[in-house]
Amino acid sequence: MSLWKHHGKFERHSLVLLIGILVVVAIGGLVEISPLFYLESTVEKVQGVRPYTPLELRGRDIYLREGCYVCHSQMIRPLRDEVERYGHYSLAAESMYDHPFQWGSKRTGPDLARVGGKYSDEWHKAHLIDPRAVVPESVMPPYAFLAKTDLDYHDIQQKLAAMKKVGVPYTAEQIENAEADLLAQADPFDSNGPKLKQRYGAKIAQRDFDGDPERVTEMDALVAYLQMLGTLVDFKTYKAEAPENLR
Ligand code: HEC
Repeated sequence: MSLWKHHGKFERHSLVLLIGILVVVAIGGLVEISPLFYLESTVEKVQGVRPYTPLELRGRDIYLREGCYVCHSQMIRPLRDEVERYGHYSLAAESMYDHPFQWGSKRTGPDLARVGGKYSDEWHKAHLIDPRAVVPESVMPPYAFLAKTDLDYHDIQQKLAAMKKVGVPYTAEQIENAEADLLAQADPFDSNGPKLKQRYGAKIAQRDFDGDPERVTEMDALVAYLQMLGTLVDFKTYKAEAPENLR
C-alpha cells in the first residue's frame, strides 16, 4: 500500500517524474558503458590494417564531399548472401582509421567495402565519368569533372595532423612528408616512391590512377581510395572466430 502512495507522487509531479527517469536512465547507462572503459581495446587488432596514405585520404575526402555514401554502404554483414556477393564480411579493424566511418545502410548501389582490385583503374575512370558507358542500366550520377579538376592538397599535412589528434597513428615523419608522399603515389616514376613504401608498406599502389601523367586530379585520389578498399587484410591467412560457412 505505501509503495502505491509514493508512486502517486511521481504521477502527480512532472518534475519528480523527470528526476526519477533521469536516475533510472543513468543507472542503465552506467551498467552498459562503464565496462567498456576497462577493456584494453574494443577493436581486435588485425594484421595488414594501416592508416590511409595522403592520396587515399584525400580521395576519401572527395568520396565524402560528393556524398557517395548516400547510395553506397561500406559494411559487409555476416550474412550468407552478402558474403557470397561481396566477399569476407567487414571487420571492425578495417574501419578503425575511418573518421567518420562509412558503414551506412543505404544501398542504392552495391556495397563498396571490398571494391578494391575488383575493376581496373580505367574501368573506374570510365564509370565515374559516365556510369552508363559501362553499366547501361546504372542510375549512378556522372562525375566527369573529377578528371578535369586539379587535386587540392595544400592542407594535406594539417589533415594528417588532425587525423592523428583523433587517434590515427601517423608518425611525425609521415605528417612532414605528406605532400611528397601524395605526389609520389600518383606518379610511378616519382623518385620518392621507395620512401612512400617505406612509410606505408610495400603493398602501396604507386601509379597514375587517372591515366593523365600531366597532373594530379581529383580522379587520381578517388580511384586510389576505391582501389585499396577492403584489400588490406589478407583473408588467406586471417583466422576468423566465426562459423565455417561465413569465412
Ligand atoms: C544516386 C545513387 C548513387 C550515388 C550518389 C553514387 N553511386 Fe555509385 N553506384 C550506384 C549504382 C546504382 C551502382 C550500380 C550500377 C553501376 O555499376 O553503375 C553504382 C556502382 C558503383 C560502383 C561499382 C560497384 C561494383 O561493385 O560494381 C562504384 C565503384 C561506385 N558506384 C562508386 C561511386 C562513387 C565513388 C560515388 C561518389 C563519387 C558514387 N558511386 C555515387 C549509385 C550511386
